[in-house]
Amino acid sequence: MSDLGAIRDDAQAATGAAGDLRALDEVRVRFLGKKGAVKALLKQTGKLPPEERKGFGMQVNALRGEVQAFLDARKLELEQAAQDAVLEAGWLDPTLPTERQTGDLHPITKVLMEVVDHFHGLGYEVASGPEIEDAFHNFDALNIPANHPARDVWDTFYLTSGEIPRTHTSSVQIRTMENRQPPLRIIAPGKCFRNETIDATHLAAFNQCEGLFIDKDVTVGHLKATLEGLVERLMGYKVPTRFRPAFYPFVEPGLDLDIECIFCKGSGCSICKDSGWIEVIPCGMVHPNVLRACGHDPDEWNGFAFGMGFDRMVMLRYGIDDLRRLYDGNLDLVRKL
Ligand code: DAH
Repeated sequence: MSDLGAIRDDAQAATGAAGDLRALDEVRVRFLGKKGAVKALLKQTGKLPPEERKGFGMQVNALRGEVQAFLDARKLELEQAAQDAVLEAGWLDPTLPTERQTGDLHPITKVLMEVVDHFHGLGYEVASGPEIEDAFHNFDALNIPANHPARDVWDTFYLTSGEIPRTHTSSVQIRTMENRQPPLRIIAPGKCFRNETIDATHLAAFNQCEGLFIDKDVTVGHLKATLEGLVERLMGYKVPTRFRPAFYPFVEPGLDLDIECIFCKGSGCSICKDSGWIEVIPCGMVHPNVLRACGHDPDEWNGFAFGMGFDRMVMLRYGIDDLRRLYDGNLDLVRKL
């Protein structure tokens, strides 16, 4: 009995004297460890007359609980003291605002990574070409001859050298097909430039992502399935789509893929100009003249192409209603995403 009382007092004094957490742990080992004082008491139990064993065991257990409580209480005190010391030393300023803006990738980069990942899964490669092009790659080989009115559609900038800041990524189709033998599956994301008046839906420097699939016996069905899969992946749900006939000199037939307006869900609003649909991906079956211009026989090879307005896709994905916001560095936008 006196042993128990003495051990308790010792433990209380020792925990109170422990000046830091390491010293406190040594106290724990001394009393509660395998070779500690409390364990030693338990070992004595066997030597007691049977009728005393139970009562003694209960007392030792109670002692163990008390010692543990001393340890816990001292631990709290020491932790608090350590925190106070940090504050006193002035290492920590608790008045600083806690909500910090952490870094993040730009929404355009995020969507680009997703598009690349999606097409990698379908066996496509990422191709690239120069941003400063010549008329052959930007126009002629794409079945848009000089003096053809279709050239006007592209609001082209011309450098004094006569070169062209590319008006679309379709030039990468030509560069790829010139240099390589089909079958081909590529996407080509990149910057394009047009002499546009800048507004909520137009920029003079913007991003597109071209796609090109050349093989044998490719059909509009392949085109349709590929682009519907892409839109579903990007929008995150099976958004209703429709294909409309459209004219682009480098495809025949040419099509525009629309998705149901994500803002009004098809009922009509100012963003979809009350049509309920938003145009997202111009596309079509590669024109035989384009294959020929690159040295391939259109009777042997055919395929589809598409040229998605990339910034537009990012806007739709994140519900942003003004293209300029993607470039104005407004952190509110980032926070919203
Ligand atoms: N290059 C076209 C543009 O910028 C978009 C386009 C339409 C690309 C149809 C294509 C396509 O590959 O097949 O307006």
